[in-house]
Amino acid sequence: MTTDPLIAAATEARFRAFAPFSHFLVGAALEAEDGTTVVGCNVESASYGLTMCAERVAVFSGVARGFRCFKRVAIVADTETPTPPCGACRQILWEFAPDAEVILANLTGTVLRFTMRDLLPHPFDAKQLAEHSV
Ligand code: THU
Repeated sequence: MTTDPLIAAATEARFRAFAPFSHFLVGAALEAEDGTTVVGCNVESASYGLTMCAERVAVFSGVARGFRCFKRVAIVADTETPTPPCGACRQILWEFAPDAEVILANLTGTVLRFTMRDLLPHPFDAKQLAEHSV
């Protein structure tokens, strides 16, 4: 079985996670529309609250590199059931990857597939801002 390169990229990024407080390492990889892969890992803060999830690190890193839309997302953590993105990450992923396939994988080969639409029904986004009357 050949591993999806996007899962492999997220697995590799996971090893760079900075998670000295939770010891919960997460890696994320995004595929941009031109095929470029952008990765992220979680980065924790001693303040706890300023911690940033792997998914948002990946999106923000991709935006900083000039990408605005991603077509696939892979998230890897060492959990029996693959780890889904938190609510904050679903919001950010929705804004930059609304049509994406979201692939959740663990270290033992379990893979679950969703769409962003499955993960965030009835989203808030720029549409509401455009519709509101002043
Ligand atoms: N974390 C992620 O990076 N992504 C998720 O989707 C869930 C949680 C991180 C944040 C924190 O560093 C650690 O996992 C425990 O919550």
